[in-house]
Amino acid sequence: MLSTRFPTEPALSPNCRDSLSSTSQNPGDVVYDPFMGRGTTLVEVALLGRAPFGCAINTLSQCLMDPRLDIPILDSVAECLKALTLAQETLCPEDLPTFYHPGTLREICNLRQYCIEREAKGQLDPVDQWIRMVALNRLIGYSPGFFLVYSLLSNQVVSVQSQRKITEKRQQVLPRRFVLDLILKKSKCLLGSGEAAFCDGVRAVGDRAIILTQLAHVALEISDGSVALVVTSPPFLDVVDYAMDNWLRCWFLGIDAREVTVTVPHRLDRWEAAMTEVFRELYRVLRPCGFVAFEVGEVRRGEIELETSVLRCGYGAGLAPGVVMFNDQAFTKTSNCWGIDNNVKGTNTNRNVVSNKPE
Ligand SMILES: C[S@@+](CC[C@H](N)C(=O)[O-])C[C@H]1O[C@@H](n2cnc3c(N)ncnc32)[C@H](O)[C@@H]1O
Repeated sequence: MLSTRFPTEPALSPNCRDSLSSTSQNPGDVVYDPFMGRGTTLVEVALLGRAPFGCAINTLSQCLMDPRLDIPILDSVAECLKALTLAQETLCPEDLPTFYHPGTLREICNLRQYCIEREAKGQLDPVDQWIRMVALNRLIGYSPGFFLVYSLLSNQVVSVQSQRKITEKRQQVLPRRFVLDLILKKSKCLLGSGEAAFCDGVRAVGDRAIILTQLAHVALEISDGSVALVVTSPPFLDVVDYAMDNWLRCWFLGIDAREVTVTVPHRLDRWEAAMTEVFRELYRVLRPCGFVAFEVGEVRRGEIELETSVLRCGYGAGLAPGVVMFNDQAFTKTSNCWGIDNNVKGTNTNRNVVSNKPE
């Protein structure tokens, strides 16, 4: 259920009000997500014909994002997959046999090695990047379209110890999955003739994209006043460990997840200080009358109202508060994945704080 509350009188001048309606009607405008994560928002942005700008601290985000904006053609992907051989003996980490069938794991390790070597030589072209992106997505997830055995969560991977327990408790037989076949199958789904119009639409704006791997409060590559709209969802205090939840994908890229400096303040005052810095940067890159939609979830069972903090941070950076939208959700599939079935723990409401840069 969606409801709205106005924290103050809506502070829009007549010109900014016009800009609000035209922001949603101007193909070609820049939309920026400073905490882009897996890049869902930016893919939607590109599909809507807007130029996607994004930033995230983990290289993983860029590896998931770049090939979805610089999309190769299916024939080139199929040709490259056909030329790859992944069956040769190779060294694999000792921990991973709990997750994958030995034959599947050997293929994963060989594909990983291929990508790392191509990247080191500066030869990782858009087709390789596409294959790597699909592989990263197939690493985690437990239906037959994925490489993994049954795990707890569909999108974040559990620790080696937890996976060992899950595998033992369920007496799981590790399924043999064929890496190249699954990548080709998924690529056909995403790049096949049925998706041609979507792919062409994304290609048309993809060359204007700016995708950064760095901290969001210093996005210097983005020029002053160039962004029409910011849509984002920052880390919610210390609720999720974004780096370690992605350790397996980071391993595939050759990154140590523990070295990714994700912003996860434990205290609200530190979170506000970090977000105020980000809002200052958003103020700089926004054009006059540009908007920010900043989404936060419920934390600490609703005892902390992060939306109030977001309003304070935005206001402190010079933005005018507009409206707070509440999305009150009943039990969801995501709650189920997190093992939450009581509508008490977890993120049961989301709050979207909209503010704007005065003229
Ligand atoms: C709530 S998630 C974003 C989710 C995203 N909307 C999606 O659909 O995947 C927040 C993201 O911000 C990243 N992050 C954390 N601190 C950051 C910082 N200081 N600068 C940039 N990115 C950061 C995290 O790694 C995480 O991917």
